Amino acid sequence: MNTALITGATSGIGYASVEKFISKGWHVIATGRNSEKLKKLKNIGAETFQLDVTNQQDINSLITHLVNKSINIDVLVNNAGFGQFGTIEETSDEKARAQFDTNVFGLAAMIRAILPMMRKNCSGRIVNISSAAGLTSMPGGGWYAASKFAVEAISDALRWETKKLGIKIVLIEPGPIKTSFAETVNTSVVIPENSPYGTLVKDLTQSTKGIKGGTVENCAKIIYRASTTKRPRNRYLVTKEAKLIKILLTILPPKLIDYFVIKMFVPALERNCKR
Ligand SMILES: NC(=O)c1ccc[n+]([C@@H]2O[C@H](COP(=O)([O-])OP(=O)(O)OC[C@H]3O[C@@H](n4cnc5c(N)ncnc54)[C@H](OP(=O)(O)O)[C@@H]3O)[C@@H](O)[C@H]2O)c1
Repeated sequence: MNTALITGATSGIGYASVEKFISKGWHVIATGRNSEKLKKLKNIGAETFQLDVTNQQDINSLITHLVNKSINIDVLVNNAGFGQFGTIEETSDEKARAQFDTNVFGLAAMIRAILPMMRKNCSGRIVNISSAAGLTSMPGGGWYAASKFAVEAISDALRWETKKLGIKIVLIEPGPIKTSFAETVNTSVVIPENSPYGTLVKDLTQSTKGIKGGTVENCAKIIYRASTTKRPRNRYLVTKEAKLIKILLTILPPKLIDYFVIKMFVPALERNCKR
């Protein structure tokens, strides 16, 4: 039986991916921080393991468990992540680092832990969940986009590095998907009073709430396809919004992209510095 290891499996895209792999007869090791939510995953047939991707001890314990039980990982889905919103200036170093700790260094730590096993078997696949924010940045969401750009760069390098080792690396680039993502954004978002950026960040978080978004089921279907098809693409765009962004970035001149982004997202300020 094939085994998939999924991080951040306790909700949203991760949870739906667990359901998808199980429905296809896979053994799934669903990992996450919340023990109560892990119980639910156990009830649907997953093996569960409490794991915070920023905690190296958790990762070491998982590897010890896999070695002791002779469990091979065929697919690693690096899904754990969250969105730190706020302007570049107003987001503290601590918050920016926390964003990278989970979305970038957590993902890299999982890769480092699982790769030796895959190298030994000369097979395996790593599916990294990036975002449309890995294609383009956005005002008020620069730190999140930076973390996903980093995921893109790491995945490209890794795909080339492991090409001759029998390991395949795939990126998933979802546009908006209906999950708890927006709620989590609200717990960490930086919106100072009397911000010189006006309502920029507030408007951005409000607008993410309003977006209809794709379904976790469809996203999980694409993750499963990317994990199992013989010759996977390097990147899978998910949702029509992500596909549209990709097209616009390809065809529009950069200054026109600036114009539309500013028009769409940046509010008029009382004291507008025009030159
Ligand atoms: N929803 C979207 O619109 C969208 C679009 C593009 C990309 N994505 C990406 O898709 C991935 C999944 O997000 P989602 O939309 O499914 O949001 P979600 O419902 O909030 O799920 C995020 C999951 O990641 C987990 N997580 C966060 N930090 C973690 C850590 N340090 N260690 C382990 N698990 C951690 C959360 O666990 P807790 O319950 O313990 O917090 C949760 O299970 C993320 O990488 C996100 O950036 C989402």
